[in-house]
Amino acid sequence: MLPSDRPVVLVGMMGSGKSSIGHALAERLHRDHADTDALVELGAKMTIRELFERHGEAEFRRAELWVLDKVLRLHEPGPPVVSAGGGIVTTPEARRMLGSSRAYVVWLRARPATLAARLAGVTDRPLLDGDAVGSLERLSQERAGWYAEVADRVVDVDERSVDEVVEELLA
Ligand code: S3P
Repeated sequence: MLPSDRPVVLVGMMGSGKSSIGHALAERLHRDHADTDALVELGAKMTIRELFERHGEAEFRRAELWVLDKVLRLHEPGPPVVSAGGGIVTTPEARRMLGSSRAYVVWLRARPATLAARLAGVTDRPLLDGDAVGSLERLSQERAGWYAEVADRVVDVDERSVDEVVEELLA
């Protein structure tokens, strides 16, 4: 069961399905869906790649944190479902926000091989430029402890469809 009075925040690596699962889950729960990547791009009026290239990753993380703080405060018409950017847990302040009782955090956990297969050919993730498979392995390893730290619930998504994961979350 998901708590009806708290924002549900999906965290996990790039390619774990946070955006599509968040969208489908929000529909089923009749809640708003907030995607931090999309909101950062909207606010900055540029793509994440442009933001990284012009202002650097640190500036992107600041924008992401600002957006997270705002979406966690939304309560009209009800607490939203939030799909958070995969690297949000790298910012200590974001981990503190996610660890607060305001957020019910679900870690969508996937093996690096699953992520690599899903992200093959994708070009809009600056952190995957070059050796994408190696970067996914390294980032997964670096971040696993942080995802575990903030998560109220862990769901394994390897070889599972969006609908299967949504059903598990609602069960
Ligand atoms: C990032 C993940 C991306 C996006 C940016 C950085 C990361 O979001 O925020 O490219 O550091 O893992 P998704 O997890 O939605 O792909």
